Amino acid sequence: METWDAIRSRRDVRVFAERPIDDGDLDRILEAGRRSPSSRNTQPWDFVVVTDREQLAELATVWQGAGHVAGSAATVAVVAPAAEEATRATVFFDLGQAVFSMMVAAADLGIGSGHAVVADQELARRVLGLPEDRICAHLVPLGYPAERPLRPLSRPERRPFDEVVHRGRW
Ligand SMILES: Cc1cc2nc3c(=O)[nH]c(=O)nc-3n(C[C@H](O)[C@H](O)[C@H](O)COP(=O)(O)O)c2cc1C
Repeated sequence: METWDAIRSRRDVRVFAERPIDDGDLDRILEAGRRSPSSRNTQPWDFVVVTDREQLAELATVWQGAGHVAGSAATVAVVAPAAEEATRATVFFDLGQAVFSMMVAAADLGIGSGHAVVADQELARRVLGLPEDRICAHLVPLGYPAERPLRPLSRPERRPFDEVVHRGRW
């Protein structure tokens, strides 16, 4: 898929097919995250990949909006340092870039992705075996869409282009 098609095809997928993701494809998605830019190249991320069905089911309970993690073929837990307030915004900006790189790389392969935040950090830490100085910042469930495959969306649910884009001045 062309990059432009991958960008236009990506949408949040919450219902996944049973089909597993090939190891090579999963590694390519993770590599996209690893290659992401970050402030001062600090690379404040670690990725824990979960494919075990029972572990996924437990991970899906870290937040009421994380249920789709249970049915994913794999979920990438994006792990961050338990940062001080002063650096938190930068760290989370960096993590967002890594997440989106992985999502576009997944879409390029026809693999759907989703987001889920983490409310219960203690549960996430236990399921993922994280050390005390790390938090699970975000979950990225992955899998082939159960319903319609990824195709470029002609009318995404987004604010109109001319409302969002300001040229020269607001
Ligand atoms: C920071 C962030 C947190 C999100 N958290 C969740 C979540 O916990 N559960 C969920 O189902 N979707 C979550 N989403 C997905 C958004 O609802 C989704 O990106 C938005 O509705 C646009 O969807 P679309 O790209 O399919 O149009 C999150 C997205 C972002 C960027």
